[in-house]
Formats: sequence, C-alpha cells, structure tokens
Amino acid sequence: MAEPMVPPTAGLPLIASDLRPWGSADLAGALAQWLGVPAVQLECSGTSALMVALAALKRLAPARTEVVIPAYTCPLVPLAIAASGLQVRLCDLRHDAPDMDAEQLRALCSERTLAVLPTHLCGRVADVAAALECARAVGAYVIEDAAQALGARVHGEPVGWQGDIGFYSLAVGKGLTTFEGGVLLARDAGLRAALQQANRSTVRASLAWELRRSAELLGYAFLYRPRRLGLAYGRPLRSALAQGDWVRAAGDDFAGTIPRHPLGAWRRRVGRRALHRLKRFQARLASQAQKRMARLAAIPGLEPVGDFVPGTRGVWPVLLLRLPSPGARDALMHAHWGAGLGLSLPFVHALPDYGRYGHVLAAARHDRVTQARDWAARLVAISNSPWLDELRFARLLQILQLSALDG
Ligand SMILES: Cc1ncc(COP(=O)(O)O)c(C=O)c1O
Repeated sequence: MAEPMVPPTAGLPLIASDLRPWGSADLAGALAQWLGVPAVQLECSGTSALMVALAALKRLAPARTEVVIPAYTCPLVPLAIAASGLQVRLCDLRHDAPDMDAEQLRALCSERTLAVLPTHLCGRVADVAAALECARAVGAYVIEDAAQALGARVHGEPVGWQGDIGFYSLAVGKGLTTFEGGVLLARDAGLRAALQQANRSTVRASLAWELRRSAELLGYAFLYRPRRLGLAYGRPLRSALAQGDWVRAAGDDFAGTIPRHPLGAWRRRVGRRALHRLKRFQARLASQAQKRMARLAAIPGLEPVGDFVPGTRGVWPVLLLRLPSPGARDALMHAHWGAGLGLSLPFVHALPDYGRYGHVLAAARHDRVTQARDWAARLVAISNSPWLDELRFARLLQILQLSALDG
C-alpha cells in the first residue's frame, strides 16, 4: 500500500451509502434549495456549462464576438470560448489580489464584448460589482466563473447570483463531485429559459460518456482515501515531476475535445446524497483555514490570500499563498511538490505562456498580462484537506519559513 497522501484540494469524500442506485435523482432541486435560489440547471461539466451559457448569450446578442477572462485561469475556459466560435480577450490581474484589474477590464470592453468572466479563483470571491460596471457600460453580460467556489457567498447570497449567469464545477477536487459535472444559475427567468433552450440545442445523450464517468466516480469513491490516494494521484504526479512536466503535474494538460452530454441519473443520486454533508464539511474547512491562514500570515515574507472583497465569504478547498520571489516558489516546488504535503499550483502559467493553447488565444496572446505572470510565478496552493494533519502542517510551516528567507 502507498504512503498516506494529501490530495491537492479538499474534496468531499463519498461514503458507501451515497452509491445506492435508488432514491431521488433530483440533484438540481436539492442544489437550488441548498443555495437558496429558485432553480439551477445541470450540465456534464463546468466547461460544458460555460458553453451552454455562451450559446444562450450568443443567441441574444449575435453581433458580439469577444469574451473577456482573467489571464490567469483554467485553460478549459479559453478552450470553451474558442469551441463556441468566440474570441478570447485576456485581462491582467490586480497586483494586490488574484482578480481582474478593473482599469484594464474597462479598456478591454467594447461593443464587441459579449461577456466578461469574473472568476472566483480557488474559492476566493472576485469583485463582480466592478466587472458588472465595466460590462454594463458597453451592454455586455457577466458570467461568474464560480467553478471553484460552490458554497461561497456575497452579502449572504451565493456567488454566481450577482452576475447575469453563474456556473459551478462538480469535477473531482471541487468539494461536491459527480466526477465531472456543472451547474448553471441565473437570476433572470428569461435567461434561465435561454439556458434551457441552449442546452436542448447543444447537448446530446451519450451512453459511452455516462458509463465512463460512472466508472470514474466509483473509482473516486474507492480511492479518495489517505492510504489509497497515492495510487490515483501520487504516482502520476511523481512521474510528471520526474519528467519536469509541471503542466501535467498540475493537471493543466487538457485535451481539445469537450464532452457535451447530460449528467446521468445515478451520478445525480450520488451527488444529492453527498450534498447533505457539504455544509458541515465546508464549515470544518473554513475553521481550519482561519487558523492556518493566521499561522501563515505570521511568517514574514509570505502573503496568504484571504477574502479581499468586503462582504464576501469564500470557500476553502486550498489556502493560497504568494511567495516573495519566483525563485523561492520554484525551489519550494522542486523540493516538496511530490512529497504528499498538499503543495500544488492552482495553474502553472498565465494563459499565453502555456504555448499549447496559443491557437485558442489568437490575438489575445498579445494582451498585457504582466501581473498575471507574476501571480503565476509566485503563487502556491496548500491543500486544505482535513487529511493534512497538524504534524504535517507544522512541517510545511517550517519549510515555508525557509522558503520565505530564500526570497
Ligand atoms: C476557474 C475554472 N473555470 C472553469 C473550470 C472548468 O470546470 P470543469 O473542470 O468542471 O469543466 C475549472 C476547472 O478546473 C476552473 O478551475
């Protein structure tokens, strides 16, 4: 058996009774109630949810062709935009927070802009009000990318509810999971109808994909345990690191094809049962994060990234930390990434620096991304999984203390 391993993010483990093949499959209804909204729409992934949202908006504003996203985000986002026949524009980040720079966002928005995507990176809530102001000034929509932030709230309301459309991911590692899955929400009933129509015209049943995802979810239920995770996560990670392939190690190596099919009934049942435990799990993570963030903040030179928009309460799949220099960050990761201490990178590069996604960025490769590059070079994510016990967290603190001195 492999050594105990900490997963890179705090996913909600499944229990045997979640897997029963009977009972209500109304995950959409249960999620809507959990969030306190009238309705949500399920999709087979966050990426597919984004594509449904873009298809709906395209139909409402066919002359608009550009979508503005943060220059440091999941590469699936520009892949989805390009696959929707739209053009990506990259907005640089603020120097003081991993969120879009409002001034640059204003400069990027024009009558060509279809939508702007404020992104709640790693559970930290983005400034959606600022994005709305820029978008509204040119008649564009706001889609909140809340893929990593199910359960986060703004003035008591769920993230995703401030913009025109919001989406969550139910992929592995995002907290609640159906192995892959996506959730769409919109405050406006007309937009909700447009999302349903876009789903009907773009999503097709696929038994092959559903069988594959069901098998993967079963595998997750079995392997997402400290003593088994080494098999599913530790080995591939160490192999990628041994080859110096950080993009693969971080899981940023996405294929071009984006499956588009409904979320099957069995996986919806599993998700619905696990949802009963999510609130308590997230409260436990928040309390652990609060204590650990304070200890990280006490180390001179380290910058833990907390909630930076007033009135917001994020979720804590990971603790984000900015190191004093790219050299210190890289040395830390070279020495400790594969050691099972829960260290990882949210994303390896600012989007233009992957190279492999250049074809979907097109002209956006030349957008200014100076701060995004700096965030990409100095950020680390520390797993907030409860399996990162006190002993190992204390060891990590010692390592980080030395890294901060390195800077
Ligand atoms: C910020 C962000 N947006 C979108 C996605 C896409 O979600 P999914 O993996 O469910 O397709 C992800 C997934 O990691 C993400 O992190």
